[in-house]
Amino acid sequence: MDILQVEHLTKTYGSGDTAVTALDDVSFSVAAGEFVAIIGSSGSGKSTLLHMMGGVDRPTSGTVLLNGEDVFRRTDEQLAVFRRREVGLVYQFYNLVPVLDVVENMCLPVLMDGRAVNEGRLEGMLRALGLEGREHHLPNQLSGGQQQRVAIGRALMNAPAVVLADEPTGNLDSRNSAEIMALLRASNRDLGQTLVVITHDEDIALSADRVIALEDGRIASDTRVR
Ligand SMILES: Nc1ncnc2c1ncn2[C@@H]1O[C@H](COP(=O)(O)OP(=O)(O)O)[C@@H](O)[C@H]1O
Ligand SMILES: [Mg+2]
Repeated sequence: MDILQVEHLTKTYGSGDTAVTALDDVSFSVAAGEFVAIIGSSGSGKSTLLHMMGGVDRPTSGTVLLNGEDVFRRTDEQLAVFRRREVGLVYQFYNLVPVLDVVENMCLPVLMDGRAVNEGRLEGMLRALGLEGREHHLPNQLSGGQQQRVAIGRALMNAPAVVLADEPTGNLDSRNSAEIMALLRASNRDLGQTLVVITHDEDIALSADRVIALEDGRIASDTRVR
């Protein structure tokens, strides 16, 4: 079954002379449980695509279906709930809340939903992310790599069906990068989570089920690796 369907997705930023078409009629589907890597040079539209898939920003035309439901038929308020419950999004530049500590940042989506934090899951996640002993540090008291781990923890706390990660290892050295990818992949395999990862790392791309290459806002290739 296709959990995600991207249909004729187009996104234009600005208007007139300064208009930039970041995505130009992009269509593809992702099967439930699939691990898809998205590659492409800087400015090719990768982040824009991921943000549309996660309901962060509305497309200019076209749409995204999650479990057959049109994501953008929601109101802005419904979209905010959608982002907290249905997807786990790891932003390229983390988007952590500066005045909240590690645990508070990780639990924010759960708490905003008025639900109880699963303490066991939180502990396991802190351990897996190597954030033990950093629970009450603020983002500016953490290294870039640690902030990236918090952003990943926040995305996974809800055990969402779909995880969308924008260069989740972009600020990590190769050992840490391998650990984080192992965590994401274990989540993908064990929980049957669908995983879409933007990456510049060839090893990560080759470990995916499928690699989609973007070029100037269009799909240049869509290759099944395994
Ligand atoms: N908020 C924005 N306003 C204007 N232009 C944008 C915005 N976000 C992205 N762009 C432009 O859209 C294009 C694609 O950007 P992006 O999706 O960030 O690419 P990538 O993630 O592949 O580097 C680029 O030309 C970028 O400058
Ligand atoms: Mg980007």
